Amino acid sequence: MQIHLFDNAEQVGKAAATLLAAQVIRKPDSVLGLATGSTPIPTYQELISLCKNGIVDFSNVTSFNLDEYCNLPVTHECSYHSFMKEQLFNHININPDNTHVPDGNAANQQEESARYDHAINRAGGIDVQILGIGRNGHIGFNEPADTFVYGCHIVNLTQSTIEANRRFFDNESDVPRQAISLGIGSIMNARQVLLLATGEDKADAIRKALREDINPQVQASILRTHSDVIILLDKAAAGLL
Ligand code: F6R
Repeated sequence: MQIHLFDNAEQVGKAAATLLAAQVIRKPDSVLGLATGSTPIPTYQELISLCKNGIVDFSNVTSFNLDEYCNLPVTHECSYHSFMKEQLFNHININPDNTHVPDGNAANQQEESARYDHAINRAGGIDVQILGIGRNGHIGFNEPADTFVYGCHIVNLTQSTIEANRRFFDNESDVPRQAISLGIGSIMNARQVLLLATGEDKADAIRKALREDINPQVQASILRTHSDVIILLDKAAAGLL
């Protein structure tokens, strides 16, 4: 496990984008695992700039997002489908047919979960998975629990996550209570994992994930058993290490 410290979130984004760009230059048909939320936005901004300047070509890249809310239309401005288009896909030369976000509105959620895991396997698995971390230590929407769940599955969001994500919605009652998420097994199968954390409100989750026992109450702690994980932190997120 490598841990790199930076002064601020912008530098974390530039470092993450540099690693992703190197991956795509080395392997133009890379499969990237992508995340939503505030943390990867500086990374995506830098990737857009690298693409616009002709440094990185996404035309053969395939992407799989970690998660999506259930029971929220994909066209809703807060859906992760919308987020990805707005923050990245609409501004780079990725083929929209090669971008994948799980369907949170599928009539048969179990079938959709199995289909999504299968699609990742058929694409050859994820080369690099980018992750943020929740204040409760979640990765994807794998919330604190008694066990680690292997595959893609439906999750009941915890109150802490509902409160954290409330900022994107008009009212707390509008925040979906369920999501579909890659499981810990699917995340751990990625050949490389980049975990990003910025801001003081992530410091406790980072301390627990990196310094306490590996345990499913802090789902990110499992990353310590991955053979190729790079952790990029700003000073604030590293403040309790
Ligand atoms: C997003 C995701 C979540 C976020 C986490 C941090 O696709 O899976 O695990 O990475 O909730 O969110 P931010 O970056 O908004 O603090």
